[in-house]
Amino acid sequence: MNPKQLRDLYFRFFQSKGHALILSASLIPTNDASVLFNTAGMQPLVPYLLGEKHPSGKRLVNIQKCLRTGDFDNIGDNTHHTFFQMLGNWSLGDYFKKEAIAWSFEFLTSKEWLNIPLAKLAFTVYEGDAKVPRDTEAAELWKKLGVPTERIASLGKDNFWSAGETGPCGPSSEMFYWTGDSAAPKKFDPGDNRWVEIWNDVFMTYNKDKDGAIAPLAQKNVDTGMGFERALAVLSGKKSAYETELFSRSIKKIEEVSGVAYAEKTREMRIVADHLRSAVFVLGDDNAVVPSNVDRGYVLRRLIRRAIRYGKLIGITTPFTSTVAEMIIADYGNYYTELKKNRELILSELEKEEEKFNKTLETGLKEFHKMAALSDLISGKDAFLLFQSYGFPLEMTQELAMEQGISVDEAEFKQEFEKHQELSRTASAGMFKGGLSEHSPQTTRLHTATHLLNEALRRVISKDIHQRGSNITAERLRFDFNFDRKLTSEEVKRVEMEVNRVISLALPVRREEMSIQEAKLLGAQMEFGVKYPDRVSVYFVGDYSKEFCGGPHVSNTAEIGSFTITKEEACAAGVRRIKATVEKKK
Ligand code: ALA
Repeated sequence: MNPKQLRDLYFRFFQSKGHALILSASLIPTNDASVLFNTAGMQPLVPYLLGEKHPSGKRLVNIQKCLRTGDFDNIGDNTHHTFFQMLGNWSLGDYFKKEAIAWSFEFLTSKEWLNIPLAKLAFTVYEGDAKVPRDTEAAELWKKLGVPTERIASLGKDNFWSAGETGPCGPSSEMFYWTGDSAAPKKFDPGDNRWVEIWNDVFMTYNKDKDGAIAPLAQKNVDTGMGFERALAVLSGKKSAYETELFSRSIKKIEEVSGVAYAEKTREMRIVADHLRSAVFVLGDDNAVVPSNVDRGYVLRRLIRRAIRYGKLIGITTPFTSTVAEMIIADYGNYYTELKKNRELILSELEKEEEKFNKTLETGLKEFHKMAALSDLISGKDAFLLFQSYGFPLEMTQELAMEQGISVDEAEFKQEFEKHQELSRTASAGMFKGGLSEHSPQTTRLHTATHLLNEALRRVISKDIHQRGSNITAERLRFDFNFDRKLTSEEVKRVEMEVNRVISLALPVRREEMSIQEAKLLGAQMEFGVKYPDRVSVYFVGDYSKEFCGGPHVSNTAEIGSFTITKEEACAAGVRRIKATVEKKK
């Protein structure tokens, strides 16, 4: 299967069911200031989901350009991309669950269409909560079509879909494809990552307001999203979209300009290919922005500069971004004709940005290494100097620091940044998204969970484990620690159970201020390489954990909810990384 075949099949199928084919909206929203880029197919259609009449009717089909830049550090694995495409079909107050599910099923399994054996598929439905009931109807509809009960799982939060904090939302039903080498197990385990989600149907019947209250919409809609990159990979029998025609020619180009094989520098080449593809689509958009230090321009700058740095890590010594971009335009320009139209701008902006960055990159790196030789902590002032004088985005300095096993004072960087920049609120909010954490109830819960995880690792795995870094977003915590091998899945489970055990003890959390000597005598945990002031604040979780920390934290561990480790992976030499989530009990 190649990209054109999958796209055409999807369009033809839904056209045969009365859907009008519409073009992808711009990647850059023109009438929605709440997002920097479209992050889902439904975003440009929000007014129509709310009731406005769409000029093409009530049934639509398309492929939408999307960009998500919240979690850079996943890029390079098998399934994540910054830019991606989403196939979608919509009912704007027209058909509903029965048809949506029947058509999803037909498109996936029918001989004329994707012809996927039912034995390779599994499904989820919404398990319900206090406000919205369990979606038994969706489960029944899948069963009637022949899906065995054990291949249908009910899931919580993840199966109630909304694009952001507010707006149209509803229960979702997801479709998973089995990618394991052996036959798919009879019973579906959504936690087994050999099941890859390829599509979901959202039954958009509610609207969420800014207080989180949910009210029925005037019309019942269907919003579906098939991740084009993922679907194409699994349907071509590949582990990753990077190994399909979506990327093969641009990666070949990167091999050519570097003289290095993809097999040798897989992650680095994927990052370069991913980031340059995003940059081409942002620069090639009809609402294009160019690299700058604010808002969308800054996201674009970070993408291009990160691609350049990874190019150097691969061993590329000459300017290369526009050469790779030419290939991307050739691969995508027939369908996304704006790329051909805006070709000159794409290439010249990339060349300019690369030239600019190349001028400061080498001296900036020298500066960085000087700083790193002097201390285990790059101060916020130094990180800001690297940003302002050498154009190093914060996460680039953080990545460099991580490679040396040291850290960066992120909070101080932010202070410096705010001191020096006159940026609008949205600009700084957009820039720090996914980097510096804001303190919502959810991030506060994640923060206390991080302390428990820190202590649990020492108790369950090794008393020599200490924190090497931490980062919290609204979705997850990320915790780096020294350890020289992968944890077994049994160890991961035991750590997770230990954290949940302590949560269920409902231990009180309290804060005390003391001198740094006192805190050290008490044996409070401190992060390696961080310089603390003379008087410090220490957080105690019952008598389970004590840690240097500025907070904020929950007042009792019972507020955290259930704790799940979602990933354990290598992060730098001798440093492991855990990602975990917490979910409030209903
Ligand atoms: N809006 C749904 C999603 O993006 C289909 O997953």
